Amino acid sequence: MRFINSSYEGLKDHQATQLLFLFSLCLLSSINIIEATVQHLKWEIKYEYRSPDCFKKLSITVNGLSPGPTITATQGDTLIIQVTNSLITENTAIHWHGIRQRGTPWSDGTQGITQCPILPGETFTYQFVVDRAGTYMYHAHYEMQRSAGLHGLIRVLVPEGTVEPFSYDEERSIIVNDWWHKSAIEQSTGLLSLNFSWVGEPQSLLINGRGRYNCSLAGTTDVCDMTNTECLPFVLTMVPGKTYRLRIASLASLSALNLEIEGHDMTIVEADGHYVDPVIVKNLNIYSGETYSIIVKADQDPLRNYWIGLNVISRKPGTPTGTSILNYHPNNPLKVPPTLPPTGPLWNDTLYRFNQSKLIKSHPDHIEPPPPTSNRVIILLNTQNKVNGYIRWSINNVSLNLPTTPYLIAIKENLRHVFSKKPALETYKYKTYDIHSVLKNPNTTLGNSIHRLKFNSTVDLILQNANALSPNISETHPWHLHGHDFWVLGYGLGKFDPQINPKNYNLVDPIQKNTVPLHPYGWTALRFQADNPGVWSFHCHLEAHFFIGMGVVLEEGVERLGKLPKSIMGCGQSKSLVRT
Ligand code: C2O
Ligand code: CU
Repeated sequence: MRFINSSYEGLKDHQATQLLFLFSLCLLSSINIIEATVQHLKWEIKYEYRSPDCFKKLSITVNGLSPGPTITATQGDTLIIQVTNSLITENTAIHWHGIRQRGTPWSDGTQGITQCPILPGETFTYQFVVDRAGTYMYHAHYEMQRSAGLHGLIRVLVPEGTVEPFSYDEERSIIVNDWWHKSAIEQSTGLLSLNFSWVGEPQSLLINGRGRYNCSLAGTTDVCDMTNTECLPFVLTMVPGKTYRLRIASLASLSALNLEIEGHDMTIVEADGHYVDPVIVKNLNIYSGETYSIIVKADQDPLRNYWIGLNVISRKPGTPTGTSILNYHPNNPLKVPPTLPPTGPLWNDTLYRFNQSKLIKSHPDHIEPPPPTSNRVIILLNTQNKVNGYIRWSINNVSLNLPTTPYLIAIKENLRHVFSKKPALETYKYKTYDIHSVLKNPNTTLGNSIHRLKFNSTVDLILQNANALSPNISETHPWHLHGHDFWVLGYGLGKFDPQINPKNYNLVDPIQKNTVPLHPYGWTALRFQADNPGVWSFHCHLEAHFFIGMGVVLEEGVERLGKLPKSIMGCGQSKSLVRT
């Protein structure tokens, strides 16, 4: 640039200042241009044979990969993702889990709620801004496709120059999930049958898409091959003496999981995109839909390798430990550690999990305090029920059944008749309901009504767990809220008391999250601000539970939205909208 070379001599002082000012404006705006980039991604979604645990199965891939490609962006970036559905006989939709979609509720990817399904052969474009740094994920939000492998990680980095409240030399990512040999369609068909067939415990646990099934159990040998390189364990390499940030995301369909790195403590520093007041744990409980960053130091004996063990918790395990190898590189050849992999905590130690949940608080320098009071309290009782003999999950005795016209379109385009206008029941008889016993009359109804929230109001969501259909069973349900983060005000065991328990809410330094566990026979209290115009699902993140009704739908401020993109329409009553 010429003017840099030009001499300032002869310029009056104020002229020089002006010039400098202009110059720095130029610099600033060029920084902005560098920071707020637009990323265009083209994805093809397809069925392909894969053997992630040595057993050959039809998996759903993104550009040939399952897990799909990791998205890496910087806070403020716009992502434009063109998704082509090449599944041939199945629809699809992709949800960007943890991204709040402020101003773009139609890009949330929830079929039946924010969009019509993407038909085979069609291309649908998602466009949204990643407005907060952190670790997130994406996955199919159509039927049970998530469990067929359509999922991956989203890393949103802090803008250059921003300091995070922890330091590390390098980072690595870990996706954990559970894996079945039955197809997602076989699973969902079983769940919808009168002759109910439960998905059962997974055949294996995967770490970054790699697990190991004992092929001698498979019967025929042509579908299972333990020499297949696709099922070699994932290897985490660390250089002795260095410090690592591990981003961990659980895309499990069913299992609550525990991750342990033999001989290494973990310091939890981030949860669902929020900084955590650092806590040191021996192993990490991670529920489906949650993400964490942990700091791990490569400070153990550098002359050997270590196991990373992944175990099922909270359900009686019927699946062997998933394993990876931590390789101290370059000291050691890649070989199996001389020990046995960690087996994790006792699967039924509810108190252990409950206490770890309570450890997660906001980092003191990053507290965004919750509003001290709320405008509305919605208590949500979680029960397992039956509808005409079909097994369902219900919330306040209603089992969610999505309408064929997505809510967002129906509300905005005045097609309200496509779903029930009767307000969703807000409360159950918490005074008399016995959460510890099996329902005498398990009958429930299917429903598709929604909770309409006053725009900008503060809402408390209280999740109440109860006994399932079998005696002495209450499951762990990880609940996920679309479009918002909530403050986790408290966890309790037993029945929530609306008079007493709120007195002990943490209003000082609660963590903000988008997914939170509801522990067996317990309650979890959340608070959020209904400030994001759109229609948002709040549901159990276990694939098989949401699929048979375990969720509710919230709406706020849809009237504030501009025109909806036509691309989300075309199904149910919205057919005519596309044609006109
Ligand atoms: Cu990650 Cu509606 O879910
Ligand atoms: Cu559940």
